[in-house]
Amino acid sequence: MPDASGSVARVSSEAFVTFDNVGVTYGSGAARVAALENISLSFRAGDFVSIVGPSGCGKTTLMQTLAGFLKPSHGRVTIEGRTVDGPGADRGVVFQQPALFPWLTVAGNAGFGPMLRGAAKSQRTEVVERNLRMAGLWDFRDRYPYELSGGMQQRLAIVRALANDPKILLMDEPFGALDALTREQMQEELHAVWRRTGMTVLLITHSVEEAIYLGTDVVVMSQRPGRIMERIAAPFARRDERNSRAVKSLPEFVAMREHVLSLIWRSGHS
Ligand SMILES: Nc1ncnc2c1ncn2[C@@H]1O[C@H](COP(=O)(O)OP(=O)(O)OP(=O)(O)O)[C@@H](O)[C@H]1O
Ligand SMILES: [Mg+2]
Repeated sequence: MPDASGSVARVSSEAFVTFDNVGVTYGSGAARVAALENISLSFRAGDFVSIVGPSGCGKTTLMQTLAGFLKPSHGRVTIEGRTVDGPGADRGVVFQQPALFPWLTVAGNAGFGPMLRGAAKSQRTEVVERNLRMAGLWDFRDRYPYELSGGMQQRLAIVRALANDPKILLMDEPFGALDALTREQMQEELHAVWRRTGMTVLLITHSVEEAIYLGTDVVVMSQRPGRIMERIAAPFARRDERNSRAVKSLPEFVAMREHVLSLIWRSGHS
């Protein structure tokens, strides 16, 4: 069903991803750390879910259970009704530090996923060119990661994650190391990709403003052991108005930002 923006989002009323009473405990004995407790959450295809919460509350842990890098100690995570039991090409992952292959060129990194899947060379070339042009990296296709700026590296990491046309894009603080201007540009690019493809996105961010600006849903987590304090539907991502400064200073935007900040602040002082 097309959304209000006209994009062909893979929207359905069915739950696409579910966290069903998920708990994660690391270690044992004195070293035991309860990272997540009673996480029940579901979202639909095409949702853009932002996750915020204090440092150490289990955000990365939560993402890793969906990525399939980590098995929950309790409960289960499902995608389209199937239990996640390992990583898969249906999920693209972008880490906080761009995890690029330094021995491959920009084009080599961008085409790595399709190569691994055994895609035909002609198809690989086409995907690589389309994605690198979109990310403004086409002119740098023969360079190596060390020749790129931090922002360009992060864009390349996103391109690499998108190359398999994943159903779900998982991003852990992807813009944390960027300057304010580059960060806002990257937010616009991510937003444009989401609108165009209708893919489902899970974004972990320390920026409450970013979470509300980009997310259709904002999930606020408590101090460790991480639980869900509140899930808020945010209307701004589906708006056609994309003047980011104007949107971010709307009274309703500011009110939501202050509400989320006060939740996090209270969680850290309880
Ligand atoms: N591999 C691990 N072994 C043991 N403990 C871990 C491991 N990974 C994370 N933890 C612990 O689990 C808790 C949650 O960590 P996690 O990385 O998920 O938090 P986070 O919300 O992503 O934090 P940040 O915002 O700082 O990135 C922390 O107390 C951390 O020390
Ligand atoms: Mg983390």
